[in-house]
Amino acid sequence: MASKYAAGYRGILRELRKSLDPSRKVNTDIKSHFRAVVENARQHPSDQALVDLDNTILFLKSQREHKRLLERYNPLHDLTEPERLKATANRVGLNMPKLHSDPLGQPIFASPDTIVVLKTAAHQLNTLHRTVVFPTETVYGLGAVATNAEAAAKIFATKSRPADNPLIVHVSSLEMLETLLPPGYEYTKAYRALIKHFWPGALTLLFPRNSDIIPNIITAGQASVAIRMPSHPVARALIAVSNSPLAAPSANTSGKPSPTKAEHVARDLSGKVPIIIDGGACGVGLESTVVDGLHEDGNIRVLRPGGITVEQIRQALEEEYQGGESVPKVLVHKRDYQDEEMEAAPTTPGMKYVHYSPAVPVTLLSTLSNPPSGTTRQPVRSFLRQISATRPHPPKIGVLAPSDSGIWKEIVACEGPSWHRFALGPISNPSLSAKRLFDGLLTLEAEGVDFILIEEIAETHEGLAVMNRVRKAAGEMVWLDYV
Ligand code: TXA
Ligand code: MG
Repeated sequence: MASKYAAGYRGILRELRKSLDPSRKVNTDIKSHFRAVVENARQHPSDQALVDLDNTILFLKSQREHKRLLERYNPLHDLTEPERLKATANRVGLNMPKLHSDPLGQPIFASPDTIVVLKTAAHQLNTLHRTVVFPTETVYGLGAVATNAEAAAKIFATKSRPADNPLIVHVSSLEMLETLLPPGYEYTKAYRALIKHFWPGALTLLFPRNSDIIPNIITAGQASVAIRMPSHPVARALIAVSNSPLAAPSANTSGKPSPTKAEHVARDLSGKVPIIIDGGACGVGLESTVVDGLHEDGNIRVLRPGGITVEQIRQALEEEYQGGESVPKVLVHKRDYQDEEMEAAPTTPGMKYVHYSPAVPVTLLSTLSNPPSGTTRQPVRSFLRQISATRPHPPKIGVLAPSDSGIWKEIVACEGPSWHRFALGPISNPSLSAKRLFDGLLTLEAEGVDFILIEEIAETHEGLAVMNRVRKAAGEMVWLDYV
């Protein structure tokens, strides 16, 4: 037992040192503070003390990662977006090329290095008609010029994607959007509101397809085309520099979890893509919300929950429809309405094909929703003991759960398996769970676990999209109780 505390202390010092790069000298006050904490834990041993030590290391690690990301992508985080763009431009020199204006008229700036990368990628896209992997705020995308059927076909081949699953087209401006729509197309009031509130961002809208511009292969023959304007500066700059709308599904082999880091793509598609532009970890971490507002009743149908929540969409519509005008309803497919014809077709993401599954089996630990009649909840502890006895022995078990879940304590008490933990952030912060879910699945898979357990979270806000992906990833579901 004593050595576990010593290892905890060493782990804490290691994290502190890493965060102090390059001097690597830990302040003696901080050091002695942690020594006292660990010493106290050693003198009053308990499972909780060990969990606390683990959590301290996890916290220091995530703080370090957060700091690194802030410094890399958002060094001026206390400024508003326009102020930040301006300050970044000043920092890199006023002669930086202006790439593009966004709908609000804010210029996007890029460093000289970024320009070289973007131009190289644009050459691949426009001249060689190849694919390019690029970061977006949701997940990494595998892009090709959307108006070029030959290029778009390479997306399907690279991903082994079934030809009847349509692609999302990405634009960098409203002007570019208009070049894709049927002549004379008029935005509905609801679409104007959604674009105003959520573009650029993690919202995809279905528009009527202009078949003179959008090839059949993009929409898999549908009469509608899915379009979004990403907010990630690299994504938008790439589209602007190449001056081409880009068709881009998530940059993963069909059926796998979507990549949220460049290394996820490299592991999955290595040798199959000519360029991966590394933009760090995706901020949202789940794909965009796919919305169909083309029905005659004027209602907004959410085909796939995603980065923009149903609550946000409702609120935006309520704000824009005032003075007694009836606000369109926001209906979530499967939850609020069914559509048998659509469910048979692949247009509803994840309905027809396997989705989001890592190479190892995933079990959903249902601790919130009600079990089907006839099924009773099993205590978490006995379930963990039971799976600890499975083969291969001892098993390597990956666990994805909120950082303040009761499961971590149960795991400490359950000796035998080699536990691989991946915390999804606090229960109160589902957007962090969204950001970490795919990273967790892919990281645990890469660590070589035999299977993965995911604990259920509440299906509100980003939790709706998280659980939509988790249910599709999980081959099995068990109902448990903390007793
Ligand atoms: O966040 C995202 O949406 C990411 C990034 C790269 O932008 N893209 C993404 O693409 O998730 P993908 O292909 O993995 O998922 C898009 C889904 C497809 O599964 C498809 O069913 C649906 O959007 N979709 C595309 N066009 C559609 C259409 N015309 N009607 C209905 N659904 C459509
Ligand atoms: Mg996908």
